[in-house]
Amino acid sequence: MEHTANAEFTIPPQYKTDRSSPARWVFSHGLRQWWVVLIALVGSLGNAGLMAVASVQIGVAFNVVKTHEFNPAALREVFFIILACGLGRGLLQFARNFGFEFCAQRVERNVRRELYASLLSKSMTFHNLQPVGDTMARATNDVREVNFLFSPGLNMVIGSLSFLIFPLIAAPRYNVALMLVPGVFIVLYFFALRIYMRGLAPITEEVRASFGGLNIRLAESLDGIETVKGSAQESGEIGLFEKNITRYKDALIAQGRKEAKFLPLLLYGVALAAGLLHALLLFRQGLIDLGGVVGYFGLLLMLDFPTFASLWAYSRISLGLAGAKRILELMNRENNLDQNLAGYAKPLRGEVEFRAVTFRYGEGDPVLDGVSFKVKPGQTVAIVGQTGAGKTSLARLINRTYDVNSGQVLVDGVDVRDWNLENLRRTISIIEQDIFLFSRSIAENIAFGKPGATRAEIEAAAKAAQAHEFILTFAEGYDTVIGERGVTLSGGQRQRLALARAFLTDPRILILDDSTSAIDSATEDHIQRAIYAAARGRTTFIITHRLSQIRWADLILVVRRGRLVASGSHEDLLRESEAYRRIFSE
Ligand code: UTP
Ligand code: MG
Repeated sequence: MEHTANAEFTIPPQYKTDRSSPARWVFSHGLRQWWVVLIALVGSLGNAGLMAVASVQIGVAFNVVKTHEFNPAALREVFFIILACGLGRGLLQFARNFGFEFCAQRVERNVRRELYASLLSKSMTFHNLQPVGDTMARATNDVREVNFLFSPGLNMVIGSLSFLIFPLIAAPRYNVALMLVPGVFIVLYFFALRIYMRGLAPITEEVRASFGGLNIRLAESLDGIETVKGSAQESGEIGLFEKNITRYKDALIAQGRKEAKFLPLLLYGVALAAGLLHALLLFRQGLIDLGGVVGYFGLLLMLDFPTFASLWAYSRISLGLAGAKRILELMNRENNLDQNLAGYAKPLRGEVEFRAVTFRYGEGDPVLDGVSFKVKPGQTVAIVGQTGAGKTSLARLINRTYDVNSGQVLVDGVDVRDWNLENLRRTISIIEQDIFLFSRSIAENIAFGKPGATRAEIEAAAKAAQAHEFILTFAEGYDTVIGERGVTLSGGQRQRLALARAFLTDPRILILDDSTSAIDSATEDHIQRAIYAAARGRTTFIITHRLSQIRWADLILVVRRGRLVASGSHEDLLRESEAYRRIFSE
């Protein structure tokens, strides 16, 4: 049985769309809005139909005016038909625009939902490899391009295609031969369009990709702004950014150049001239009357909509498909949903065992190699070792942030891969080395793992974590929003907030990755007390360099270059392990 660490939750079935190709995916999204699309289609076809009727009626009007005995009743009739066509077109255009716009906005919302759900269900391996800036570009701008694909893209394309067919349909009312010009135009139009779209696809893909590249750079520079400023690299970074914006600009210019060479523009001019000539020839032979020439020319003028609208409407389609391709590429990548819903889900006692565990990130060398140990419920374990030894990696295997490559990690005697993932993670808390806080209030940050917590529960947790006092020093106390008005927290404060989080969720296993923090002794004392309190009554792993914490642990694991070189109590290890003694002599 193959296992892969993944998935906090499953994607709701209503987001099951056809992800086999960008066009199919977009289509399957559009199809869910079928009734608005239907309104839009009726609007498009109706609008074009009435336009054709109006053109024909103008021809009729010419005939009425031309005849010697002037007939006001006939002219009035023509006038009212043309007026009715105009009003009807207004309504139908509204239906068309409304339909496509409505559809586009709903599709955009659904795509956002689908993508967000998909992103949150991805494994850590995925997120470690995927630059945030690029994800952001895809989740914001590419989604927007899919919206534009529907409106104005498809709106103009469908609208203009309707204008393409009516001259062909209406021409035989004058003379079947008149189908020639619109017929040839349609064939050449689709032929030119096919070539155009093929040439456009790589260009629009480059437009979207270069935009993604631009965002990666921007997000990274802003994320690392302290480092950029600290090492006075502003101008260097601006130079690098320059390269990215130039690439984006070049891609857009290439798109413009391609659009300018759109062949149907030329075809349209030729079609008008040829069509008029054809009609005049038939007129000379007496096969059609003057009203026929005028009406037919009016029909030919309808071809200008497909010609000019398609100039940019098809770029929208092309950009939309390029955007869809990028979104799909993200969603389809490594999506092994392994929620293991049917997995083991008994209450957790807190026993942890590693059996000959080997683990590597991606294809690299093993970061952990043949690690075995066993921890009884309620014990406190200190993991020690030099930087890069694999301590953090070891801790990440316990809650399946990653999966082992060989060997087993067992919790309560059950392989973690056989646990119901949500159940397992809910009862294991990890306080990471870099503690992340959301730009929300302090209370919300503490209650992150337990959304319904009352204020009293939150305060009790903060008190237990020795955080209550410093929280009250902020003017707004627990309602202080982190990141707003300059409120940021120190490393020690963050750690205590994270501990408060852990107190609130009351996990059976607590993992505290504390190895890099260096703080003053007063704060250290606070944190120490908080940790003692937190460790009580649960299995606790502490990754630390602090002797006081190490000494007090029930079991100490000494990790060196991915191997467990010694384990036991402080006294045992001092006596027996050279590696352990070396840590303290450093
Ligand atoms: P660890 O992050 O497990 O080391 O990385 P550590 O013991 O906790 O180190 P400190 O004390 O926090 O500094 C172990 C090895 O795994 C690699 C690192 O390069 C390191 O050699 N590693 C870590 C990855 O390849 N990818 C990761 O995402 C994390
Ligand atoms: Mg670490």
